[in-house]
Amino acid sequence: RDVPPTPLWGYDGQFPGPTFETRRGEPLLIEWANALPTQHFLPIDHTIHGAGKDQPEVRAVTHVHGARVPADADGYPEDWYVPGRSALYHYPNGQDAATLWYHDHAMGITRLNIYAGLVGAFIVRDAEEQKLGLPSGDHDIPLILCDRLLAQDGQLYYPVSDDPSAPWVMQCNGNIPLCNGKIFPYFEVEPQRYRLRLINVANTSFFDLTLSHDQAFMQIASDQGLLSKPLERARIELYPAERADVVVDFSSLAGKTVQLRHQSQGILEFRVRSSSQRDTSVLPAALRDVPRIDPASAVRHRVMTLNEIDDANGNAMQMLLDGKRWSDPISENPRQNSTETWSFVNLTGDAHPIHLHLVRFQLLDRRPFDLFAWNARRELIFTGPAQSPEPHEMGWKDTVRADPGMVTRIAMRFEGEPGRYVWHCHFLEHEDNEMMRPYEVL
Ligand code: C2O
Ligand code: CU
Ligand code: CU
Repeated sequence: RDVPPTPLWGYDGQFPGPTFETRRGEPLLIEWANALPTQHFLPIDHTIHGAGKDQPEVRAVTHVHGARVPADADGYPEDWYVPGRSALYHYPNGQDAATLWYHDHAMGITRLNIYAGLVGAFIVRDAEEQKLGLPSGDHDIPLILCDRLLAQDGQLYYPVSDDPSAPWVMQCNGNIPLCNGKIFPYFEVEPQRYRLRLINVANTSFFDLTLSHDQAFMQIASDQGLLSKPLERARIELYPAERADVVVDFSSLAGKTVQLRHQSQGILEFRVRSSSQRDTSVLPAALRDVPRIDPASAVRHRVMTLNEIDDANGNAMQMLLDGKRWSDPISENPRQNSTETWSFVNLTGDAHPIHLHLVRFQLLDRRPFDLFAWNARRELIFTGPAQSPEPHEMGWKDTVRADPGMVTRIAMRFEGEPGRYVWHCHFLEHEDNEMMRPYEVL
């Protein structure tokens, strides 16, 4: 059909933006120049800390998700700048190989800027990983997954609330999945092993991924790099901002067409060639050591709620972290090089993907609790045993699913950089509507 092109934004004119190929120990300077138009092409129905008065409609700042960087290069939400301005950021790249991604993080308008297209992949490699002989080069491919709502006329559509008491939409689930910015693209592969770096960059949708032909994924990495060993998985579920690196072996599928699917919907088609040269890649039995953080080594245990409130003044519902708003004083202030555990008491009816900047963490457990006791007396009473993480959740993470009715507990060491960072829900509609808090490493 003949449809007019829809506007989109991108990095360097691309959606998704160009992939950064970086190496551990090789620092990087990036100048992020805001060359966007001065008006948004998406409807700005509601923007806290934003639009109107003294705030420009278009503002942007880039954050590399999962990167350990100095605070002044992290893309702090209030460090946004307007079209015509730029920021020079320094990335030490002193961290383990991992699939990171970069995206806009401007205060109050991240959901629209990312939805418009401001995302890309950022890969960190290192020598240890290289020694493993995993599929590499043109057999190592980022697959950036998201979904969008396309209107009948093919135009990108962002949902607008029709409820005056709730001027923002709580979620934005698309009607079409995109892989690397395309609708159901195909990819010609050799009948060999491939490393696919799955990245969910959607506003609120999760992906429930399978392969056709009863093919399994061998998951080798999660958010912050390699797992201790490859895990065979029939399906992979990714919440927004989560990543999974998988190895898929097409060697028995020569001449076939294999689909990557979300539920029953095709996202990407692999067309497997019939002939090939020898595959020299290997999939070792062990990948790397992932020493568990001992929660007993933590100097502080913080307990924070995830909750939603209706403003008494009849204002819109908001999602809060520990009952606080963005502008409330900083309450999380870990010391440099100290270990802490953070527990997220989810009082809402939904799971939320909770993300911390700067640090990698480990999921300790999830444990059901008595919501009524909490609401009545703020008393935390567990109603069942703690549930251990799934095997694929035993690696280093930077985003974790906090289930409803559960206390989700993580542990991390605040290594390296002092300064102000943020932690937030990675449902972008929530993040933009108060489910984000500053924290400061002292
Ligand atoms: Cu994906 Cu605050 O970041
Ligand atoms: Cu981040
Ligand atoms: Cu949320």
